[in-house]
Amino acid sequence: MSYYLTTAISYPNGKPHIGHAYEAISADVMARFKRAQGEDVYFQTGTDEHGLKMAQTARELGKTPAELASEMSQLFIDMCDTLGVTYDRFIRTTDEDHHNASKAIWQAMEANGDLYLGRYEGWYSVRDEAFYDEKELTQGEGGEKLSPEGTPVEWTVEETWFFKLSAYQQPLLDHIAANPDFIQPDSRRNEVMRFIEGGLRDLSVSRTSFDWGVQVPGSPDHVMYVWVDALTNYITGVGYPDGGATWNRYWPADVHLIGKDIIRFHAVYWPAFLMSAGIALPKQVYAHGHLLGEGGVKMSKSLGNVVDPQVMVERYGVDALRYFLLREVTYGQDGAVGEEALVTRVNAELANSFGNLAQRTLSMIHKNCDGVIPAAGNLSEDKALLDDVTTSSTEKLPAAFDRWAFSQGIEAWMNAVYACNAYVDAMAPWALKKTDPDRMAEVLGTLAAALKPLAQAILPVVPTGAQSILDQLGQGEGQAIDKPTPAFPRLELAAEDGE
Ligand code: MSP
Repeated sequence: MSYYLTTAISYPNGKPHIGHAYEAISADVMARFKRAQGEDVYFQTGTDEHGLKMAQTARELGKTPAELASEMSQLFIDMCDTLGVTYDRFIRTTDEDHHNASKAIWQAMEANGDLYLGRYEGWYSVRDEAFYDEKELTQGEGGEKLSPEGTPVEWTVEETWFFKLSAYQQPLLDHIAANPDFIQPDSRRNEVMRFIEGGLRDLSVSRTSFDWGVQVPGSPDHVMYVWVDALTNYITGVGYPDGGATWNRYWPADVHLIGKDIIRFHAVYWPAFLMSAGIALPKQVYAHGHLLGEGGVKMSKSLGNVVDPQVMVERYGVDALRYFLLREVTYGQDGAVGEEALVTRVNAELANSFGNLAQRTLSMIHKNCDGVIPAAGNLSEDKALLDDVTTSSTEKLPAAFDRWAFSQGIEAWMNAVYACNAYVDAMAPWALKKTDPDRMAEVLGTLAAALKPLAQAILPVVPTGAQSILDQLGQGEGQAIDKPTPAFPRLELAAEDGE
């Protein structure tokens, strides 16, 4: 079966931060997990390079928007490489095929009679690249108007093309009601339905006050509203408008993975554009929560609490960061992350429990069994352990991952690791060495047999360490092994800068 998974494409107006890393890592874990299950995966990520925010940032830095986009986009590509993100395409909205696709969807919406010229007068947030109704705005501390996301808004008056979003109010509600999985988690679906029921107004979909964007076909003074072209990246990447084998294989997408702040664009505007253009809708939009700084406060440049994923990897390694982010926060909810929590979690679970299980099993085999992995035992406690490990690794973890419940899946897996460690302590193979070496060999063989499904199950999350264990196990029973090397070293909390 084919499985097309996308992340949001990030604005490359600054360096990537831990929130970007979180989305890339979780999508990558899903992509690796689905591939391991034999699915034909296409995984796309990228950068969203047009719009006023990019144009303004470039001006402040004395660069052209194209220069800024290219420089910063490279940092997002580097981040993916550092984190082991196995995307199939990294799309940039400045790519030529993307301009073609954006023009094509525009023309399809126009041909359907959904675009008309008018004048927009209303509020716009450059930071969110979003139009807001007066009734949605809140007041800042100084009495200034703010968007629902807490960003500044400005009054905008402009000649513009409008999209007849109002015509899609009922079709959208019908689609959401008929497809309960379309918007996940459920709480997000309710939020979107309330927004739509509140009434949809036609949407301004072009801008005339700047020119950094995709030109509107037939209207050289207009560039498309950045979200029109940004959302279109999802179909550009699989061959729209030409169609062909890739298109037939992967569209409609299985999941658009996004953060909760951009649900409106994905679950209201995007399906309406697609309906208008006569294109099938994605099967699911899944909105994850936000990572917060220590103490649960929002990360922001002004608070100086923005975590740089590159620094985390230098300090603690890729596996540790990937494991921590998926394990620590219940997927779909917000969660605070910090270095102390990372070190505590990774040391307790990866280093002391799973890593240590692998290391002591392999060391004892290396020292005491002529360095060859023995056969597993057949006693009821041996079989019970292997049953437990198999169920957790091949049923519980996959069932949880299938519904984006990463932390729960890892927890089920961890419980099987704990069971293995309890088994080692109860069987005490070091004592059997003198009293009953045959039984010692069976115990170590049972543990080696348990390690393999455990490592395979966790491979999408911690690819480097889990692969190292699998390599060291080789063929399993009968395999001669080398002196083992620890797959998950213990971490030390890095000293604060300047200390
Ligand atoms: N360019 C738009 C998306 C267009 S998709 C067609 C955008 N870019 S962004 O750079 O602001 O955000 C990219 C993704 O990172 C979004 O899904 C957003 O929710 C996510 N995150 C940004 N900050 C985050 C956290 N603090 N925590 C988790 N995810 C966060 O929006």
